[in-house]
Amino acid sequence: MLTKLKQMISERKTEYIEELKDFISIPSISALSGHQQDINKCAEFLINHLRQIGFENVQLIHTSGNPVVYGDWLHAPGKPTVLVYGHYDVQPADPIELWDSPPFQPEIREGLLFGRGATDNKGQCFSQLKSFEILFKTTGRLPVNVKLLIEGEEEIGSPSIASFLEHYKDRLNSDVIVISDTAMLSENQPSICYALRGLLGFQIDVKGPRVDLHSGSMYGGAVQNPIHALVQLLASMRNEKGQITIDGFYEDVVPITEEEKQSLLSLPFHEKELMERIGVTELSGEEGYTTLERVWVRPTLEINGIDGGYQGEGIKTIIPSEAHAKVTCRLVPDQDPATIEKCIRKHIERHTPKGVQVDIKFREHSHPYAISIHHPLIQLAAESYGRAYGVPACLVRAGGSIPIVEHLYRRLKYPVILMGFGSPTANAHAPNEHFSLDNFEKGILTLCDYWLNLASVLKESEESR
Ligand code: BES
Ligand code: MN
Repeated sequence: MLTKLKQMISERKTEYIEELKDFISIPSISALSGHQQDINKCAEFLINHLRQIGFENVQLIHTSGNPVVYGDWLHAPGKPTVLVYGHYDVQPADPIELWDSPPFQPEIREGLLFGRGATDNKGQCFSQLKSFEILFKTTGRLPVNVKLLIEGEEEIGSPSIASFLEHYKDRLNSDVIVISDTAMLSENQPSICYALRGLLGFQIDVKGPRVDLHSGSMYGGAVQNPIHALVQLLASMRNEKGQITIDGFYEDVVPITEEEKQSLLSLPFHEKELMERIGVTELSGEEGYTTLERVWVRPTLEINGIDGGYQGEGIKTIIPSEAHAKVTCRLVPDQDPATIEKCIRKHIERHTPKGVQVDIKFREHSHPYAISIHHPLIQLAAESYGRAYGVPACLVRAGGSIPIVEHLYRRLKYPVILMGFGSPTANAHAPNEHFSLDNFEKGILTLCDYWLNLASVLKESEESR
């Protein structure tokens, strides 16, 4: 069966790529309000596509934010039901001048398809859709019941997803969730992901004098400078050992087991390759941890953007009136974004320099997630990767976040299986994002294999839930 599927995928590859290009061509950027029409257009594109490949009850579901695309095929009585999740929204494309080809005019170069969203998440979402399409084509049916849920707000923290799930939880009822939105250890190394970090985003606004002041005459030296206040405050959150110095921040962090430590050490991961790729001469992070521990197992606090004062040509001697910073923390099990928020609020209260007003707004939040590597559905996924790629899969975590996972797993108690086909070299969120067409093909095959074998394992996992 697998050999036949492989051949059929290969025969249809060109057609699939053309369709994927159409999907990528729609600039469905959720962060920019000017792209609302593109968001709607992209959802419409999916609606038509799902109908075309054989899904039923295909529907655009309105939420308090961007619409969700739903479709299902439920004609496998006695077989498990899989809820497959993806997102059709993408990150902004800037800085556009750094792209070698326009972000929304997808182009293939050396086996890689370039375009915003190529990997995150349109290419991977398409691997899922094509895995069903090919099974429909070859067998006229699917080996499991399938519900598809493709949302349009993942890249802005899925603000509407909690209430959406609450409202539609009966309709979404299923045995397992499968998401293809994570990265493998390297481009050709099949990897099954068993953990995600969570996220907590906030903005700090510092306000000083009513207007910018002359930094000499009458004021310079006698007035708190909001930018200095902001950098002091930010500096108080992390020390030179890379440790976060906010009281209580590490309180609920589950330490890594010796078994997992060894497992991470055994992975084919090379720091030198990473440094060369990103153009740094040294890696840096929390003292006492390896690089993989730092990006997968340890929480972080990172300044994402900072602004204030004069940035124009030449000199302008002012004390600025205000300063701003955007910060995100990555969280790990069992940190709770709400608890961390309290710790940060307290820290800011205590450390705010005199003479300025500090306002803090918490925004995106997402819980961390981890599933046992011994879970039968994880083991089965590893086997499917192994069969499709012809080499054994390794077990990895992910440093990124997918907000819906927490709702599905922690509240609705579904096992979530992260079967991603991205590569750490894919430039997700960056200029020249791309998706390896080889992984597109192998991803489709891996998922087909998973669907075909799922029923054999699911009974067991139902009991262990
Ligand atoms: N696909 C990523 C998450 C990801 C990337 C997981 C690589 C594992 C490896 C997802 O689209 C994403 O970027 N999520 C955001 C979420 C945030 C905006 C709440 C993230 O992690 O920054
Ligand atoms: Mn993303």
